[in-house]
Amino acid sequence: MQDPGATITRRPARLVVLASGNGSNLQALVDAAGRGSLPAQVVAVVSDQAAAGALTRAGAAGIPACHVGRHDGEARADYDARLADVVAGFGPDFVVLAGWMRILTMSFLGWFPNRVVNLHPALPGELPGTRAIERAWQEALAGERSTTGVMVHLVPDEGIDDGPVLASRPVPIHPDDTLETLSTRVHRAEHELLVDTLATLCRQEVPQR
Ligand code: GRF
Repeated sequence: MQDPGATITRRPARLVVLASGNGSNLQALVDAAGRGSLPAQVVAVVSDQAAAGALTRAGAAGIPACHVGRHDGEARADYDARLADVVAGFGPDFVVLAGWMRILTMSFLGWFPNRVVNLHPALPGELPGTRAIERAWQEALAGERSTTGVMVHLVPDEGIDDGPVLASRPVPIHPDDTLETLSTRVHRAEHELLVDTLATLCRQEVPQR
């Protein structure tokens, strides 16, 4: 019988990070796991872009880094099935889209129900798609908004930057912001929110050893 006073030890969650670009959010996850504030291990980084900074960062951290490029004329669903194969091979508890710039179809998502987590640099229901920070800044210049934000959500289907919200956080836009100063503030908020949200998920949902 289990000792009722015993501390439950959970294994670190296995994260596979999908990233198309620079990889600063990947870096935030790797750093947080390294200092013990995220009970997880980034077990692989996969990119659709051979030159992605995220792959370089993975290599520097000793994490397996894979480029899965789309073949000429390859159907989206076929690419997604190949991608799912690669990702599944790493046995993820969660698949984290951290600057992943391709829409994923059900031929990928169907393999990881309730396990795909996306980060978007805007508040829920606002500014879906690319260049969300730039569009928020332009709206602020036009006097149409003074706040934007960041959110982390599950990806159940092909909706763009849409799905059950796990967490969100507002980010103020200051009157003297340039696109650069606003981007820096939003990225800092993203790094924190992504780490905090995944830490909560990993504590709640990863089975004990
Ligand atoms: C982030 O702003 C993310 O929300 C967006 O693309 C950016 C990626 O940044 N989808 P990085 O590659 O993690 O530095």
